Amino acid sequence: MARYSLYFGDCLLWMDKRGENSIQAIVTDPPYGLREYTPEEKEKLRNGHGGVWRIPPSFDGCKRRPLPRCTLLTESDREKLRSFFSEFARRAIRVLVPGGHLFIATNPLLSHLVYLPLMDAGFEKRGEIIRLVKTLRGGDRPKNAHGEFAHVTVMPRSGWEPWGLFRKPCEGRVQDNLRKWKTGGLRRISPEKPFEDVVRSAPTRGEERAIAPHPSLKPQAFMRQLVRASLPLGVGTVLDPFMGGGSTLAAALAVGYESIGIENDPVFYRMAERAIPKLAEIGAETKPVPGPHLRRAPRDERVLPLPFQP
Ligand SMILES: C[S@@+](CC[C@H](N)C(=O)[O-])C[C@H]1O[C@@H](n2cnc3c(N)ncnc32)[C@H](O)[C@@H]1O
Repeated sequence: MARYSLYFGDCLLWMDKRGENSIQAIVTDPPYGLREYTPEEKEKLRNGHGGVWRIPPSFDGCKRRPLPRCTLLTESDREKLRSFFSEFARRAIRVLVPGGHLFIATNPLLSHLVYLPLMDAGFEKRGEIIRLVKTLRGGDRPKNAHGEFAHVTVMPRSGWEPWGLFRKPCEGRVQDNLRKWKTGGLRRISPEKPFEDVVRSAPTRGEERAIAPHPSLKPQAFMRQLVRASLPLGVGTVLDPFMGGGSTLAAALAVGYESIGIENDPVFYRMAERAIPKLAEIGAETKPVPGPHLRRAPRDERVLPLPFQP
């Protein structure tokens, strides 16, 4: 049974304490802007109105998930984002073993602000995974002039989500790196079928959102494909430094990989703690054994003092 460890606290501090060359893959979905996960914006989200969280209109009676409005970022927000990702990149490349891959979720408007700091820190860009998914972003007519410009769309209606694919440089040839560090490539879907960079996906299903009602929860069907590909020999530990509701860790548990998750929001941390075994069970033929596989970090290993008793 794959083990996983959860840490409550700031992932940058956690990575500072983590040993060099000790993680085989990072699969993560960071905050796109720095604003949507500030305490003020999270309070507005939880109150159900206002702020950067836009509640899409319920035109067909269905309750919709809030979406962050990243177009509201100012130049100074963008600068903060660049500098946040520089800090993240320096730490990520240190903890990853040579040849270790980083899969990082982003969006078409901001990906450059995430990718450039990663490359400046020494990561090789290895491509992009295109998650084909229809979101409610874009496709609108000009605000307050819908009638006048009925044939205009301000932005394309988005049909994809980019995930940057990066690698810490290998030591020597890929085969040498695979032997020594168990990393350097991606796990094939089967001996005949390589992992591919376009993955058809659907928005996260209601069943999963009911288990982990995190506003950015990623679907298991998609996450399991990425997580599985991230360890070429199926050996090692997958880290998600921005764990949210725990979809990466649940995917790792479902495919039998060891994993570590970090989250700095107490509500989301508790949500992930409860959700991971349940999300991992979805679609599984055999149920993961509950209990002992969850190794909670001893208190002194945790990065920040806990404001709650988990
Ligand atoms: C986009 S969400 C991740 C959602 C996740 N992929 C899922 O499926 O549930 C980003 C998460 O990172 C957390 N976060 C933001 N800054 C952080 C930090 N410095 N350290 C740890 N977690 C952080 C936020 O609270 C949020 O839950």
